[in-house]
Amino acid sequence: MSSEAVPYIIAPMRADDIPQVLTIEHLSFPTPWSAQGYEQELRNTLATYWVLRPVPPRAWGGVVRQPPPVIGYTGYWLIADEQHISTIAVHPRWRRRHLGEWLLLHAIADGTARGATLVTLEVRLDNEAAQALYRKYGFEVVGQRKRYYRDGMDALLMTLFRADSPEVQERLAMRRQQVARELARHTFTPAMFASGPHSSEEGARDEDREQPPSE
Ligand SMILES: CC(C)(COP(=O)(O)OP(=O)(O)OC[C@H]1O[C@@H](n2cnc3c(N)ncnc32)[C@H](O)[C@@H]1OP(=O)(O)O)[C@@H](O)C(=O)NCCC(=O)NCCS
Repeated sequence: MSSEAVPYIIAPMRADDIPQVLTIEHLSFPTPWSAQGYEQELRNTLATYWVLRPVPPRAWGGVVRQPPPVIGYTGYWLIADEQHISTIAVHPRWRRRHLGEWLLLHAIADGTARGATLVTLEVRLDNEAAQALYRKYGFEVVGQRKRYYRDGMDALLMTLFRADSPEVQERLAMRRQQVARELARHTFTPAMFASGPHSSEEGARDEDREQPPSE
C-alpha cells in the first residue's frame, strides 16, 4: 500500500501552531521550551520544524474542526552535513501507534535529502521510550553529558552514522513502507479530534534544552 493511504499529514510548523505544540510540549517534557523558544526557532534559518495532524475520513464531512488538531511535531537543525534532531513528541493520547516513528522517518528523510550524512540528538538518561525508538532506527550512544538538563538529569548523545549510505537508506525505506501500512489501518472517532487538555502558557519555563545554534 502506498503512503498516500496514510491518514496523517506532516506539514511545516507555523506560528499559529505554537499554542497546540506547547500543550503537547508541557505534557511531554519535564523541561519544556517556551512559546518564545518556538517563535525563535521558526525564524532560525538553520532549523526546520514539522507538525503532524490526523486526516478525518471524507465521509465525516464537516463533523470535526478544520484544520485537525496538531498531535505531534519534530524539528531539527542542519549544520553542514550534521542533522541534529532538536525535538520530537507525540500527544500522549496518540502514542504507541507508530507516529513517533513516522515523524522520525520524515525528519531523517528530509535531512538526508538536504545533505545530512549523520544524525545526532540528546536524550534524557531516564527516557527509555525515546531511547528505544532511536535504537530501533540504528542510533548508537556516543557519549553522556552530565547534568545536561536543568533538573540535573544527564543526557545521552546518540548518533545515526552514515545516514545517507545506501544500506541505511534502504533500511529506512523498508521501515517507512511497514509503518505506512500500519498507519493506513488506523481508524478514528470524532472524539479523537477534540482539543487536547489545555496548557496555559502561564508557568511556561524558558527553554533549557540545548539552545538553538546561532546563525
Ligand atoms: C518518544 C515518543 C515520541 C515516541 O512516540 P510514539 O508515537 O509513542 O512511538 P511509536 O509508537 O512510534 O514507537 C516506536 C518505537 O519506539 C519505542 N517506544 C515508544 N514508546 C515506548 C515506550 N513507552 N516504552 C518502550 N519503548 C517505546 C519502541 O521501540 C517502539 O517500537 P515498537 O512499537 O516496535 O515497540 C513519545 O513517547 C513522546 O512523545 N515522548 C515524550 C517526548 C519525548 O520524550 N521525546 C523525545 C525527546 S529526546
